[in-house]
Parts: sequence; C-alpha cells; structure tokens
Amino acid sequence: MIEIKNLSKEFKNIKAVDDISFKVSNGEIVGLLGENGAGKTTTLRMIATMLKPTGGTAAINGFDLVKEPDMVRSQIGILFGGEVGLYDRLTARENIKYFADLNNMDDKEADKNIKELTELLGMEEFIDRRVGKFSRGMKQKVAIARSIVHKPSVMLFDEPTIGLDVTSSVIVQDFILSCKKNNRAIIFSSHSMQEVEKLCDRIVIIHKGKIIEDSTIEDLKEKYSGNLEEVFVRLVGGKDEL
Ligand SMILES: Nc1ncnc2c1ncn2[C@@H]1O[C@H](COP(=O)(O)OP(=O)(O)O)[C@@H](O)[C@H]1O
Ligand SMILES: [Mg+2]
Repeated sequence: MIEIKNLSKEFKNIKAVDDISFKVSNGEIVGLLGENGAGKTTTLRMIATMLKPTGGTAAINGFDLVKEPDMVRSQIGILFGGEVGLYDRLTARENIKYFADLNNMDDKEADKNIKELTELLGMEEFIDRRVGKFSRGMKQKVAIARSIVHKPSVMLFDEPTIGLDVTSSVIVQDFILSCKKNNRAIIFSSHSMQEVEKLCDRIVIIHKGKIIEDSTIEDLKEKYSGNLEEVFVRLVGGKDEL
C-alpha cells in the first residue's frame, strides 16, 4: 500500500514535483504517465528513499517515508530502465546475493529465493556465469531477480522497458503482471500510453510536476471516448499552451 501525500521536490528554481497525492492499493498497477521532464523519475526516486522530498511525504505499508526511510526501503523493490548496473566480474548469482546481503537477508533465505527465481526466470544455464558478456535480455533477468529477491510488497518501475527489444520488454511486462498477481502495490512509469494501457489498472498523468489526471482506464476511455493516445497528447499539449 502506497499513500503519497503532497509530495514535492524543488531543485534550485525548478519544481520538479509539485504537491502530488495519490494512492496505490495492493494488487494494483498504477501507471505514472508523462513526457520527458514531467517529474516521473524524481517522484519514484523520492518514494525509493534515494532522494529527499522538499515537501510532503508518503506512507509505504504505514511507514513514513521521511521519518522511517530504512523501514520504507525494506518494503520496496526497484527496477529502473537504462543501464541495469550489475557487477560484470561477479556471476549472476553473486550479483543477486550481494543485493540480498545489502537488504540484510539471512543466507539461507537468500539462497532459497535465488533458487526459486532462477527457475521462474529460466536462468539455470547462466546463473553461475559472470555477467560481463551477458546479452541485454540475460542482464534484464538478473536485474529482475535482484529487484525482488527480498520479497518486497511494493514495486517501483521507472520506464523499465526503455531501449529493450521486444522479447526483453515482454519479459519485463510479464514480470510486472506477476507482481500484481502476488498482490504487490505497483507504480510503473512510462511515456508510452500504449504500454500503460496494456498493464495498468489506473493512470496518473503528470505534467510539469503536477497531476493533471488520476483515473481508471475505463473511466478515461469513457471520458475521452476511446483514443487514449490522442487524449494524452491533448491533455499535455493543451497544458503547454497555457
Ligand atoms: N538532480 C537534478 N537537479 C536539477 N534538476 C533536476 C534534477 N533531476 C531532475 N531535474 C529536473 O526535474 C524535472 C523532472 O525530471 P524527471 O523527474 O527526471 O522527469 P521524467 O522522469 O518524467 O522525465 C526536469 O525538469 C529535470 O530537468
Ligand atoms: Mg525519467
């Protein structure tokens, strides 16, 4: 359960995130949709405790983001797009294990979870090979395993499919849907209406740091008679003219 309350982040003169509030229930995928520079990454980095808010807070399973960042951190799994940042000289297993250690997991539990994830993601053939020469898709699987090895109940995805080929994108999308099945609360950011429509229960549209729409897909479709891509361009484009 994620409750974002009046969250803000100001960088010098820029209000990157400007007083946003929304909730995500367990088993729900909320799509955070916005153009480049809208404030998606800043929002997710604050929820992930990687960046301090300049205003407001969030409650993650009841833990306060500002007052209990360590507790919040233990509830959260993160998969951010772009370079996945694995250690090339370590094996896939060692990379995942290292992350489990950072989350204070005991060895036995970490080993058990890694075994499960290896089967689930089909990593048997390469789990004990160094990741340096892995394909993008293989690295993506290791990054997925790493994001969830501590069994977090909240998952944050920041444009996780950016730059991926179709096969790797589908692996990530299936993973997001499996998180929903396991009753996790999920925020998924994207600038693609199509992808958001495919995965999300609800959409929060963010523009210049502010929420301009928060609605279920069905309600959005009804409100704007169907064509969501057009709606997005219209909402965001319209705001630019103000
Ligand atoms: N560390 C930073 N210092 C200054 N400005 C930043 C920093 N990070 C992001 N911004 C600015 O905040 C705004 C929102 O950025 P970001 O959250 O990355 O947007 P998005 O992920 O939606 O593309 C942009 O105007 C960006 O230039
Ligand atoms: Mg971003």
